[in-house]
Amino acid sequence: MGSDVLDIQTLLGMGPMAPVANPYPLYKRLRDESPVVETIQTVDTAVAGNHRSVMITRYADVKAVLSDNDTFGSGIVNRTMGLVMGPTIVGMNGREHFKHRTLITPSMTPRALKGDDFPTLIREIADDYIDQFIDEGAVDLHARFFFHYPLTVFVSVLGLPPEDVDWVHRTACDLCLVTHEPEKGVQAAEQLLQYFTPVIEARRRDGGQDMISRLIAAQIDGERLSDHEIVSFLRLLVLAGAETTNHLLGSCFYQLLHNHELMRQVRANRALVPALIAETMRWESPISTVMRETHTDTHIAGQPVEKGVAVLCHIGSANRDERRFRAPDTFDLQRQDKEHIAFGFGRHYCAGSHLARLEAEIGINAILDRLRDIEPQADEPFDVIGFSFRGPDRVPVTFCRA
Ligand code: HEM
Repeated sequence: MGSDVLDIQTLLGMGPMAPVANPYPLYKRLRDESPVVETIQTVDTAVAGNHRSVMITRYADVKAVLSDNDTFGSGIVNRTMGLVMGPTIVGMNGREHFKHRTLITPSMTPRALKGDDFPTLIREIADDYIDQFIDEGAVDLHARFFFHYPLTVFVSVLGLPPEDVDWVHRTACDLCLVTHEPEKGVQAAEQLLQYFTPVIEARRRDGGQDMISRLIAAQIDGERLSDHEIVSFLRLLVLAGAETTNHLLGSCFYQLLHNHELMRQVRANRALVPALIAETMRWESPISTVMRETHTDTHIAGQPVEKGVAVLCHIGSANRDERRFRAPDTFDLQRQDKEHIAFGFGRHYCAGSHLARLEAEIGINAILDRLRDIEPQADEPFDVIGFSFRGPDRVPVTFCRA
């Protein structure tokens, strides 16, 4: 097992978008031989206060850990990422998490976000991006579309000026660097605080229908979110908006472009797009790992794990577990066993899942409506890469105008 441990350390050390194309054979070996594998600290020991760190890779174990919030808490997220993000819902436990979840969830459904016109608005944003390259015949879909489109949608949801999209995007990307370039991460967090504070003050004064106004107005048992809590939440959301759905779109097109029969089927029957998205989420989970820590001495997969251990739950590996999915490495649109956990599981289940699926569905349909004969560029092969986040970092294609 020694060499596997070494490989995992290498992967962890390479950062969230490590240029690793196919880690799945390694994950299979870990699931079979070492389902609870010791890893190096993925977070600073002094900061997180943990002594040991393990990674788990089987579906049943990951799901069990994410289901048991008493034994496995999320506080480690706020003691690490929280240093720059501020305390956010993803790192909260118990009553505090319940309060925040109850306050934010009503603001997160697509209808609440922008009313019944929301799909039309998203489609207009997708069309604007496509307009910019439709006459060129060749494009990197990642650089010119997938990378920007979800955050542009989100900036409009927040009621921010469209000309701020690039700045918000750059700053959100800097925020992601927190684990590897802490100074940049801290600076980005401060810049977002300076940016959002006057916006929140203006919404408090003047009111509005956008998501920030809804977050200000939300209350439970007379409690509301403070400005500080709203800024921390918005930081989390711009990060989620910038770093997730773009990977999903890239991986969907990776499949479509490398499987002509799949492209033909989906083009011919757009009702298959939701299944394409679901199977892509399972096959290449855009967020591959989530973190928990043990609150008590416990067991995972029959192995003792003491109190205070960081547990890296590998949902990307879990979604390829042969104990749960038939032929897990096969991309199968007709799959009956569909219960992937790429949006997490349990109390912290992704609050933006409706939005992510809607954006992906509209983006895919916009491309298929407006471009035909889409092919990967022969001299520019590309792959799905990454460790904690997974997706292609370029999608160079040729196409004709439909
Ligand atoms: C394909 C896109 C996305 C994927 C794969 C994804 C994945 C996840 C996962 C795995 C979690 C669980 C974290 C944990 O258990 O520790 C999560 C939580 C969350 N996600 Fe997403 N996400 C996506 C898009 C979004 C978007 C677009 C938003 C909002 C704009 C969003 C907002 C959130 C929030 C607020 C939470 C925390 C929920 C809580 O702690 O109760 N996500 N997401």
